[in-house]
Amino acid sequence: MVDDAAARLRYSKGAIILHWTIAVLILYNLTTGLLHDTLPKAAFQFHVSSGITILVLTVLRIIWRLTHKPPPFLPMAKWEKGLANVVHFLLYCAMLAAPLTGWAMLSAHVDKPKPAVEGAAPPPQPIGPPKPHQTLIWGVIPLPKLKPITDIGQGPDGPARLKETHEQFEDIHGTIGWIFLFLLILHIAGALKHELIDKRRQLARMGVGKAEPKHWDTAA
Ligand code: HEM
Ligand code: HEM
Repeated sequence: MVDDAAARLRYSKGAIILHWTIAVLILYNLTTGLLHDTLPKAAFQFHVSSGITILVLTVLRIIWRLTHKPPPFLPMAKWEKGLANVVHFLLYCAMLAAPLTGWAMLSAHVDKPKPAVEGAAPPPQPIGPPKPHQTLIWGVIPLPKLKPITDIGQGPDGPARLKETHEQFEDIHGTIGWIFLFLLILHIAGALKHELIDKRRQLARMGVGKAEPKHWDTAA
């Protein structure tokens, strides 16, 4: 049957590897982001490195998607196909928007001078001009600041405008986090509905489980 033949098709290996690598990193970033105030500080340590990795892998994933045809949809209602397409598209948008707004926020960050502790000796003065704080991705690759954002900091009221920009991107970044979580719940619920209620080999399309027919398919 045509339906059964289509059901055996999977995404390409590259798409599957990218999907699950990005998924693990996003779950880490969403957890450490949304629970930022609750989790110990150490949990947040890799948030920026993981976020920039997500950005790079998402660009790769989109290029891969545009150059590799995905398998045809499993048989399902028209509205379900429409909803899946919309959610997938919005997930890609969130996968780009979350890291980019995080990067913009970091680019608007102004190092605060450390408050002096009363009675303590003044901290040793570094030799040479003060160095701005440098973010290193995975402790190795320096992350440049985004120029359109640092440009906002030029001029006499620059620091105040940067602070305002930082707050704006912080709000946007946080809101995207909640939207992301909502999309992800829809995405996972959809996948599980097709797998468990419609009894289709939905997860096998993304490499989970065997692509061979399950017992409920053998009649097809
Ligand atoms: C955590 C972050 C996740 C993100 C960002 C994500 C994103 C995506 C995107 C964008 C697609 C569309 C692929 C395309 O056609 O271009 C997709 C497909 C898929 N995802 Fe996820 N996903 C995530 C987690 C999960 C989880 C936890 C599951 C398992 C329940 C899952 C199961 C699937 C399946 C089965 C497909 C294939 C859909 C189809 O048959 O066309 N995903 N995912
Ligand atoms: C998919 C990737 C990402 C996701 C899902 C994500 C999600 C989040 C969320 C939900 C928050 C909490 C926001 C709030 O408290 O209102 C957060 C905080 C933060 N994120 Fe991300 N983020 C990602 C990538 C990045 C990147 C690439 C950077 C920097 C280059 C970044 C920098 C930050 C910073 C500095 C905070 C703390 C803000 C604060 O102090 O309140 N994030 N992130």
